[in-house]
Amino acid sequence: MMQVKPQDNLISLSQFLIEEQLKLPYATGGFTALMSHLVYAAKVVTREVRKAGLLDNILGSNSTQNVQGETQMKLDEYADRIFTNALSICGHLCVMASEEQEDLIHIPEGYKCGKYTIAIDPLDGSSNIDSNVSIGTIFSIHRRQDIEAKTPGTKEDLLQPGHKQRCAGYIIYGSSTMLVLSTGNGVVGFTLDPSCGEFLLSHPNMKMPESGSIYSVNEGNYNYWSPEFQNYIKHIKSIEDDKPRSARYIGSLVADFHRNLLKGGIFLYPNDTKSNKFPNGKLRLLYESAPMAFIAEQAGGMAVTIKGERILDLHPKELHERSTLIVGSKKDVEQFLNFI
Ligand code: AHG
Ligand code: MN
Ligand code: MN
Repeated sequence: MMQVKPQDNLISLSQFLIEEQLKLPYATGGFTALMSHLVYAAKVVTREVRKAGLLDNILGSNSTQNVQGETQMKLDEYADRIFTNALSICGHLCVMASEEQEDLIHIPEGYKCGKYTIAIDPLDGSSNIDSNVSIGTIFSIHRRQDIEAKTPGTKEDLLQPGHKQRCAGYIIYGSSTMLVLSTGNGVVGFTLDPSCGEFLLSHPNMKMPESGSIYSVNEGNYNYWSPEFQNYIKHIKSIEDDKPRSARYIGSLVADFHRNLLKGGIFLYPNDTKSNKFPNGKLRLLYESAPMAFIAEQAGGMAVTIKGERILDLHPKELHERSTLIVGSKKDVEQFLNFI
């Protein structure tokens, strides 16, 4: 008799999205279609990440020529091209923004403009690519300001506060590829089953532990931090603090966030005086801080700036605006807020 294995009963991401769509009488299917283009791109990028070590035209420096005279492309540029191309033709976006591109990305002529916008970090943790360390993709989806409009979207359609996100998510290319997302109704995680090429619902209701022992921060920047921030870090490592801590820092936001989502803890990227380029910290509000903050809150966690402002309440003024980010388990972020 043929045996049914537990994974045979898992539902796929596309089935999940269709079920969710059917629960909403006014849904048109546009969001589900948009997601299917994003998922396709995620699978293509997974394929390239998995074979990156084997190919000399993926790893290595930017747009140089290899020995055969072929143009090399870095994986982050490749990911940018795959995601933006796949998404631009889906018919449900009116404008896009990517960390890899200075300006707005418009929908190509001949394709329909829809009611959504997307901001994307196509390859997060790019400094880790060459070391076979987990990297990811982060995305943030909003509705355009005038959802009836059929015209190309504008910068204002993208520059909306994080609490208005319709969906935020990330893909982590780790020991397996996972897609974690929230549409404002909790957080769900899907793991790519390479044998059938489907993302399967593996983490149905993701909740961040209320408190954790992990702290994640680039402590190499210690001497460039403010005295208040230095004191906070000293405090959480001291025996006066009520729990032992473990330092864990990968340097890929997606991977650091994902681990803390599962295990509990706090991730911090403050401003520092190392470079006067980033008075507001290094991470980008639209496609790093805001989507991670949305997922954190939906999983029961918190996300604030170093000044204690709620990340989701910030109104971005520029596409590539930076923000400080303190994100993690509720009690740990509250302790940070009390301390400073
Ligand atoms: P990206 O690769 O998209 O430029 O992002 C890198 C970011 C983020 O993933 C990570 O948390 C942070 O940079 C690490 O910065 P440091 O190397 O300064 O710690
Ligand atoms: Mn990034
Ligand atoms: Mn990036």
